[in-house]
Amino acid sequence: MALVTTAEMFRKAYEGGYAVGAFNVNNMEIVQGITEAAQELRSPVILQVSKGARNYANPTYLRKMVEAAVIECPDIPIALHLDHGPDFETCKSCIDNGFTSVMIDASSKPFEENIEITRKVVEYAHKYGVVVEAELGALAGVEDDVKVDAEHSAYTRPEEVEEFVKGTGCDSLAIAIGTSHGAFKFKPGTKPQLRFDILEEVTRILPGFPIVLHGASSVPQDFVKVINEKGGNLADAIGIPEDMLRQAAKSAVCKINIDSDLRLAFTAGVRTVLADDPAVFDPRAYLKPGRANIKALVSHKIIDVLGSDGKA
Ligand code: G3H
Ligand code: 13P
Ligand code: ZN
Repeated sequence: MALVTTAEMFRKAYEGGYAVGAFNVNNMEIVQGITEAAQELRSPVILQVSKGARNYANPTYLRKMVEAAVIECPDIPIALHLDHGPDFETCKSCIDNGFTSVMIDASSKPFEENIEITRKVVEYAHKYGVVVEAELGALAGVEDDVKVDAEHSAYTRPEEVEEFVKGTGCDSLAIAIGTSHGAFKFKPGTKPQLRFDILEEVTRILPGFPIVLHGASSVPQDFVKVINEKGGNLADAIGIPEDMLRQAAKSAVCKINIDSDLRLAFTAGVRTVLADDPAVFDPRAYLKPGRANIKALVSHKIIDVLGSDGKA
């Protein structure tokens, strides 16, 4: 199967009451861990690349690694998506280089400006059969070099979504309902909460329209514990409870973004080898458990959180 857009994936996910995982990729082991899990479980999957990932790994290497995964995983649809495209030029570069989906994130701009930038990306992308995710509302946390603290985050305003989607022609919409980027999503001792009422209202206004959740890592405490026991220092790392994500996956939410959990899984694997056997210096010896942890984590997400197993 060649790379696909998310259009068909989202249509089926919406109707089937599940969500497709969008996992961030930065190197070969991460691409392999994610796609091996998806292939074994016959799950559709979205591989997403941030501007930071392109700077780190080089756009050509990333693109070619994803092409290799498509060859190795012939039974599943794979989409290649730009995560948090900051401007038209970055989106254009990805569209010109074979991405099947891009996100333009102008959510920090005033409403009218967000519409204008997003519409420009949509017009270009649709000419080439590429789909566009846009964002309304501002999540707290860190993306690339942009840090939004909790007091400057803002829930999506349902009364704006219809005008935004009609005015831009975007294919899916990321909304802010209380998730946030990174591994420190909630203050210790506070109860994690998501505004499902906002999601319901958006769904009522945009029936059948695919919704995206960013900042949806759960921060598995077993990985945090291993990291801390093996020389790391991640105090008070707290994520979104998985039962809330399961609930979201059954609704209009068709795409759930996960990056921090991959980082934790990978780091736990690498740290364990390096801490337990200080004589190790073959990168394969410590990257292999990182990759295995990614595969196990993604399998768990597909089966227990997203519900996308067997949906390829
Ligand atoms: O939402 C942001 C993603 O976790 C990507 O992070 O920009 O550090 O690659 P990054
Ligand atoms: P997490 O930091 O919760 O994994 O969110 C990732 C994300 O939203 C990527 O766009
Ligand atoms: Zn995000």
